[in-house]
Amino acid sequence: MSTARAHPNIALIKYWGKADDELMLPAAPSVSLTLDIFPTTTTARLAPTAQRDRLILNGQEASEKALSRVERVLDVIRAQAGRSEKLLVISDNEAPTGAGMASSASGFAALALAATTEYGMDVNTAHLSRLARRGSGSASRSVISGVALWHAGTDEESFAEEIPAPPLAMVSVVLNTAHKKITSREAMVTTRATSPYYRGWVESTREMAAQMVEACKAGDMQRIGELTELSALRMHALIMSSEPPIHYLTSASWRVFELARTLRGVGLDVYATADAGPNVVLLTRPELAAEVARHAEALGEVNIAHAGNGAYLVAEPE
Ligand code: PMV
Repeated sequence: MSTARAHPNIALIKYWGKADDELMLPAAPSVSLTLDIFPTTTTARLAPTAQRDRLILNGQEASEKALSRVERVLDVIRAQAGRSEKLLVISDNEAPTGAGMASSASGFAALALAATTEYGMDVNTAHLSRLARRGSGSASRSVISGVALWHAGTDEESFAEEIPAPPLAMVSVVLNTAHKKITSREAMVTTRATSPYYRGWVESTREMAAQMVEACKAGDMQRIGELTELSALRMHALIMSSEPPIHYLTSASWRVFELARTLRGVGLDVYATADAGPNVVLLTRPELAAEVARHAEALGEVNIAHAGNGAYLVAEPE
C-alpha cells in the first residue's frame, strides 16, 4: 500500500490549448504556484486478482468517466513498470465541496506518486511530472513545490520544474459553487478549432512565460502580478472568442477584478486571476494577504494560501 499527497496549483501564466491531445502536451509553457491548502491524499494498493482498477473518490465509488481517466494514466505507468496487476485507488480531497478549487491537478499528482511507488518504480521529479501530466495537464505542476515552470515540447521535454521566486500569497474568492458546464478539456478543443486569436495566444503565452521566469528570478512583485493578470485576461478573451462563445466569468467575477484594480490604486500589490470557472484568485504579497482577504470578504468566501509542497509520500501506520 502506498499513500501520497499533493496540493492544487494556480497558474500565473495560464495553460490553455494542447499541441497533442493524447500525450497532453501543451501548446505553450505555463507557470504556477503550488498552494498549501486543500490537499488530495491518495492510496494505491495492488489488487492482483481484480479485472479492472477501482477508484473510491471521497468515500464513494467513482463514476465511469472518472475511473477511465485514472485507468488511462495507470496504463501508462504499468507499461513503464512492466507490471500488469490492477490497483485499488482511494482518493480524498480536503477541499470542502464547492471550495472552487479544482482537484484534478492535486489528484493526478498524488495518483502518479502513489501508483509508481506501489509498482516499485523509482522515478525522479521530472518523470513524475510527465506521468501526472497524462491525467490532467496542470497536474504536471502540482508535483512541484512553490513556483513551477511547465515546459512545452515533446513527451520527454514536457515536465514542470521549480523556479526561484519571491514569497507569494493567494486569496481565493469563491463566488459560485455550481459545477462548471464546460470542462477545460472540452473548451480547449473548441477554442483551438474556432478562435481566430488562438495563434496569437500561443505566441504571446510563450513570451509571457519567459518574462514571468525573469520577473520571478528578479523578485519583481509588480511585474509578476501584471503578467499574472494579463495572462488571465488574455486567456478569457480567447475563450470568449470561441464559436459558440464560452463564458466562465460572471459579473461577480469582474467585481473581484475591479477590487484588485481599486486596491492597486491605493498602492497595494494585488492582481486577479481566474481559471475555467467564475471564481477569482487574488495574488499578493504574504504580508498583505489578511488585508486583501478582508476587502474581498464582501464579494465571496475567502481562503488564504501560500506556497505549498509538491507531491510527497505519506507514511502509513502498519
Ligand atoms: O489541466 P486542466 O485540464 O485542469 O486545465 C487547466 C486550465 C486552467 O486551469 C484554466 C489554466 C491552468 O494553467 O491551470
